[in-house]
Amino acid sequence: MPAVWGTTRVIGVIGYPVRHSFSPPMHNAVIEALGLDLVYVPFEVAPDDLADAVRGFRAAGLLGFNATIPHKEGLLTLVDVATPAARLTGTVNTVHFDGDRIIGDSTDGPGFVAGLAAAGCEVAGRRVVLLGAGGSARAVSLALVRHGVAAVHILNRTAARADTLVELLCRQRAGVAQAGPLDAGLAAEADLVVNTTSVGMAPRVDEEPLHLERLRPDAWVVDIIYNPLRTRFLARAAELGAHCLNGVDMLVHQGALSFRRWTGVEPPVDIMRTVLQTELERRAQAS
Ligand code: ATR
Repeated sequence: MPAVWGTTRVIGVIGYPVRHSFSPPMHNAVIEALGLDLVYVPFEVAPDDLADAVRGFRAAGLLGFNATIPHKEGLLTLVDVATPAARLTGTVNTVHFDGDRIIGDSTDGPGFVAGLAAAGCEVAGRRVVLLGAGGSARAVSLALVRHGVAAVHILNRTAARADTLVELLCRQRAGVAQAGPLDAGLAAEADLVVNTTSVGMAPRVDEEPLHLERLRPDAWVVDIIYNPLRTRFLARAAELGAHCLNGVDMLVHQGALSFRRWTGVEPPVDIMRTVLQTELERRAQAS
């Protein structure tokens, strides 16, 4: 824990519940390593209290805060300025008090792309197959389109949700997205395959959203799940020789982008990753 003084500024995370959040240990490790006069605190805020909490945080002089379930949508109506990423995804995961203005941003999608770039995968020009059409799929696919992917196939169990997401993506760039069934054939042709569904997440670790049969030799496969660290889907992708990435990188980089927004300081992502990985392993052993 960083030392707390009379001068210490506060950042934090709100959720309901919030006890499962990995953000406090991740951010406090960075604050300590950089010797900043800051502390990162969890706040459990019920949905009905959200507006009061935001007003209170501003009055109390917080620099800003992260938001997790169920507050990401509700915050959009409470901020003065929403970044394009927040507006388009309809969610806010990072609030920054900037003078009189309350700025809402969504760093989930940009964090996903930054995680890939840090691992050596530039997304521009790639043909993507993305599994899922929920909130995470929206954030990730919008960021991929903004970063210049060639095409996105949205494959989802419920076709109507995939169609809605395809419409949103095609409003950003005509013709960039198509919907399709959860079919391994499409994944076999992709440069980048991303699972954003919850299938395979603990405790249902024996399930996979799609059984990969073949992949391009240079394909990248990302599962945004981080518990377990290696899902069955990702294990299969590794077996087929793909470059693999789990959800840790997205979590680290969305946090890094939030940290930079509040402090203007580039956080050491290797420290964030180590803390996260250690904490995930500790919790896996405890359960
Ligand atoms: P998140 O915000 O984490 O994306 P979400 O909005 O509830 O969560 O979306 C969950 C995604 O996982 C959806 O794409 C969902 O598919 P449906 O739109 O058909 O519900 C997908 N998903 C969840 N359970 C699934 C299952 N058993 N089989 C296939 N897809 C599943």
